[in-house]
Amino acid sequence: DKAGHKHFMSKEISEQPTVLGEAVRHYLSNDATQVTLPDPGLDFTKVERLTMVACGTAFYACLTAKYWFEQLAGIPVEVDVASEFRYREPPITKGTVALFVSQSGETADTLAALRYCEGKADKILSVVNVPESSIARESDLALPILAGTEIGVASTKAFTCQLTVLLMLAVKAASDRGTLSDERIQDILSGLRGLPAQINTALEAEGSLVKVARKLSEARDILFLGRGLMYPLALEGALKLKEISYIHAEAYAAGELKHGPIALIDKHVPIVVMAPRDDLFDKTVSNMQEVMARKGKVILITDANGQEEGGDGAWNTIVMPEVDPVLSPILYAIPAQLLAYHTAIAKGTDVDQPRNLAKSVTVE
Ligand code: F6R
Repeated sequence: DKAGHKHFMSKEISEQPTVLGEAVRHYLSNDATQVTLPDPGLDFTKVERLTMVACGTAFYACLTAKYWFEQLAGIPVEVDVASEFRYREPPITKGTVALFVSQSGETADTLAALRYCEGKADKILSVVNVPESSIARESDLALPILAGTEIGVASTKAFTCQLTVLLMLAVKAASDRGTLSDERIQDILSGLRGLPAQINTALEAEGSLVKVARKLSEARDILFLGRGLMYPLALEGALKLKEISYIHAEAYAAGELKHGPIALIDKHVPIVVMAPRDDLFDKTVSNMQEVMARKGKVILITDANGQEEGGDGAWNTIVMPEVDPVLSPILYAIPAQLLAYHTAIAKGTDVDQPRNLAKSVTVE
């Protein structure tokens, strides 16, 4: 049942404020001042290293979480795609927690990677949407993302719910390890509680994204740029766009541009720049100017301050509400999803059942 939507994907995009709110509530203590985990829980005090493994969109959720676990909790993190991890025979040292992220909980490579870690890692954790899945059952601790059934092949609400649960887990780790002040922890938790409302505001940008998407649908190649927490999101934005619109899209860390990809830029190439007005904003803007100097067409996704300080010369600017920088990947996932969705609509492709793709990849 598409609940009045044309596609499952748009229904699932619109459900995000609700399901994400439920995920936040699920992991908050009754007095809303702490993150609580289901039994048997996990104490991060002695964790020396976190190894995160997943495929596709779930892999980008892990890449985002690397920034959170390192910056908030001071835990060194490695992130790998499951198909590489499982055959590389990576050493798993004492004090390692292995964390697997999977919407379906049945992805063959991710499950094989988990089994490789059995008996080697101190603890096996998973972040899953399907609580009775193989990956959940074979973990010491399975954390549900509570996104509800996701039918559209392109993952949307599962991604933002994965991010939400991973951020809350990083906050729990920071609190166990004493790496953040209680004030900062309360800031982040109250920011998370306010996210559903912020996402509703982000969804209101749909009209302006439809216009941009019509133009994007004529492009042959599209680049996505981001720095810091916006880099994994740029990767996710490019994946979403290519899988449902079949337009070639690639993402780069903004600072990598001059090490090669800038050679691709000319007046035919749209470049989506994800850049809230955070500490890295000025750096990203200077990369954006390099692109504009080569006639690249910039679509800047930023907030009101970013528009005022860096919006000059952009082909289009999409304005997001202001949010604590630590939460920005969750919020900025919304315009990335809507851009992909409406570009696919403009191209007339099958949004819910893109060619050659399956919802659950149970063979390697
Ligand atoms: C992209 C997408 C895929 C999945 C990947 C992993 O929109 O949905 O990239 O993220 O196949 O699937 P799960 O999360 O079920 O392990």
